[in-house]
Amino acid sequence: MFSLPWFTISLVLLSFNFSTSSSAPLCHPDEKLSLLQFRNSFTTNITGPMNKFCPYPVEIIRSRSSTTGDDCCQWEWINCDPSTGHVVNIDLHCSGLTGSIEPIGTLFKLRHLQSVILSLNYLTGELPSTLDNTSRLSDLWELNLASNLLYGRVPSWITRLPSLQTLHLGGNSFTGSLVDVMGNASTSLQEVILSDNEFYGSVPDSIFLNLPNLTLLYLSSNSLNGTVELLNIFSNLKRLKKLDLSDNNLSVLELMSFPYLAGTRDGDLAHNEP
Ligand SMILES: *[C@@H]1O[C@H](CO)[C@@H](O)[C@H](O)[C@H]1NC(C)=O
Ligand SMILES: *[C@@H]1O[C@H](CO)[C@@H](O)[C@H](O)[C@H]1NC(C)=O
Ligand SMILES: *[C@@H]1O[C@H](CO)[C@@H](O)[C@H](O)[C@H]1NC(C)=O
Ligand SMILES: *[C@@H]1O[C@H](CO)[C@@H](O)[C@H](O)[C@H]1NC(C)=O
Ligand SMILES: *[C@@H]1O[C@H](CO)[C@@H](O)[C@H](O)[C@H]1NC(C)=O
Ligand SMILES: *[C@@H]1O[C@H](CO)[C@@H](O)[C@H](O)[C@H]1NC(C)=O
Repeated sequence: MFSLPWFTISLVLLSFNFSTSSSAPLCHPDEKLSLLQFRNSFTTNITGPMNKFCPYPVEIIRSRSSTTGDDCCQWEWINCDPSTGHVVNIDLHCSGLTGSIEPIGTLFKLRHLQSVILSLNYLTGELPSTLDNTSRLSDLWELNLASNLLYGRVPSWITRLPSLQTLHLGGNSFTGSLVDVMGNASTSLQEVILSDNEFYGSVPDSIFLNLPNLTLLYLSSNSLNGTVELLNIFSNLKRLKKLDLSDNNLSVLELMSFPYLAGTRDGDLAHNEP
């Protein structure tokens, strides 16, 4: 389960801090309350196996997710919009967070969220099957839950978020068919990583019909089967540059020459049926 870390976060975010300008608004009390509820629902494991993929000393892992100080906009794992004070980015990757993912519902009450990164922790359980009707994640462009202990189905509201561009769910135990996850997905999607999970069934062309901006699709190390025609995938996904279908039970039909694939586009089809 800990075999493949998905280092999908940019370290730039980590060292990025807004300067403490006296004119910057303080965090909004209701948003701070939601953040505290979320953070306080977890314990911290700084010695567990996931941390070996995290390039930080133990003290840093311990302090990454602290809630010290009145202004939540100054917490290390938070970025606020400097003009409105609303929380826009949450980055808690490699924080040793241990416990059920369920409280993520309280995070989703933050209406101005743009990016939520919770990769490389010990979050368990299933994602909420519906989004609370007071939540509006209309600005969320990035959701990264990679390398946790999550399971169950990926609810379709996630892939239908109107601004979602980057969805990283690799390295968990999610299950279900690709149609359930990707059916009617948002046209805004650009990067989708579902590798190292337990998705099963076929890879129907119908899921690729309306994803004009998809550039990266990793589906490796699942239990997908049936036949895939590369020509169909690439002709539907005009911007696709990186495709990984390896380690499944797929029969891949290459009705196009591989140099085309290898030129501007990358494909890894290894470890499937001949
Ligand atoms: C952290 O993880 C290790 C390895 O799985 C485990 O032995 C230990 O009990 C965990 N500690 C806490 C506080 O959960
Ligand atoms: C949200 O759901 C509650 C009941 O769960 C309902 O009373 C309320 O009208 C709903 N609000 C909206 C905006 O749909
Ligand atoms: C996608 O939307 C169409 C039309 O609204 C609907 O018939 C179909 O069942 C939806 N597919 C999925 C997987 O939800
Ligand atoms: C696709 O990307 C272009 C810019 O690269 C952007 O203008 C357009 O709005 C995007 N389409 C969708 C559906 O998000
Ligand atoms: C592929 O299918 C074979 C039997 O058809 C099965 O034994 C094997 O576990 C499958 N592998 C994966 C990765 O699903
Ligand atoms: C794919 O696997 C399922 C079991 O998960 C099986 O019922 C189905 O026949 C398989 N399809 C193909 C084309 O091998």
